[in-house]
Amino acid sequence: MYRIMKAENLVESIYLMEVEAPLIAKSCKPGQFVIAKIDERGERIPLTICDYNREKGLITIVFQVVGASTYRMAGLKAGDAFRDFTGPLGQPSEFTAEPLEELKKKKLLFVAGGVGTAPVYPQVKWLKERGIEADVIVGAKTKDILILEEQMKEVAGNLYVTTDDGSYQRKGMVTEVIKDLIENEGRHYDVCIAIGPMIMMKFVCLLTKGYDLKTIVSLNPIMVDGTGMCGACRVSVGGKTKFACVDGPEFDGHLVDFDGAMKRQQLYKTEEGRAYLKAKEGDTHSGGCELDQKGGDR
Ligand code: NAD
Ligand code: FES
Repeated sequence: MYRIMKAENLVESIYLMEVEAPLIAKSCKPGQFVIAKIDERGERIPLTICDYNREKGLITIVFQVVGASTYRMAGLKAGDAFRDFTGPLGQPSEFTAEPLEELKKKKLLFVAGGVGTAPVYPQVKWLKERGIEADVIVGAKTKDILILEEQMKEVAGNLYVTTDDGSYQRKGMVTEVIKDLIENEGRHYDVCIAIGPMIMMKFVCLLTKGYDLKTIVSLNPIMVDGTGMCGACRVSVGGKTKFACVDGPEFDGHLVDFDGAMKRQQLYKTEEGRAYLKAKEGDTHSGGCELDQKGGDR
């Protein structure tokens, strides 16, 4: 069992939990995720690692209620426990393997959209701990659902917050801030890392392609086993099939087939769509998975 040490409702349907998982906390790196199960019969829920404390053996997760399982999860309190908490899963962020001296020469731009702010935070924090300050853009639909602003302020070089409706700080989507920084303020970046809703990552990539700016995205397709066996999380990258849970979740955004990935995500939401995937992809499509497994939790 994995004990919940802290449970907090951040805003509206977004929750933060600290979970006792010393082995994961000991070895996880930015970019990785976990899969949690509330009880024996519960769904497997993929979750972003938002932070970790190696000394205390704690993992911080942030999730949004998107279906029955995450709704149940939101009802858990400090003192409750998860039946299973598996991880760290997936590949760490590419930059964590780069020689530090090389990395220090690079100018990094992070683009975080909505709940995608949670997986961006440990990456920016990891860099800050190594003396590298990255620029960070955080976008939220409106002020009331902006998360982790104070935490991000402490680790970012420059933080640019924007809201779609202009209720706080800048007005407009994250893409407008990227354009402003590069075209009007003359900023130069070597790498952009964009994490958020699929549609945001698609449009960030369309924009950065025009600037010839390498862009990494973190994909969160439907996941079931998280071990590369079921095929549920398949995505097309550079014309090749990849499994986000083991090959990713981070990929070169300029090579990702976002339209295909979004279509697949939609198909998983209906019985008819899952039957179609089963006919097209065979048993490896994992169409038997439940509706809550639509990847929206992370
Ligand atoms: P949202 O819809 O509120 O969007 C967040 C921000 O993204 C917006 O404020 C805007 O700045 C930007 N954005 C949205 N659409 C855009 C577009 N067409 N062009 C340019 N920018 C755009 O985000 P949300 O409701 O928090 O998102 C939830 C989604 O994020 C879920 O589908 C979830 O699966 C996904 N998510 C992904 C990850 C990941 O690892 N990739 C992590 C957490 C959540
Ligand atoms: Fe990736 Fe099953 S979740 S292959």
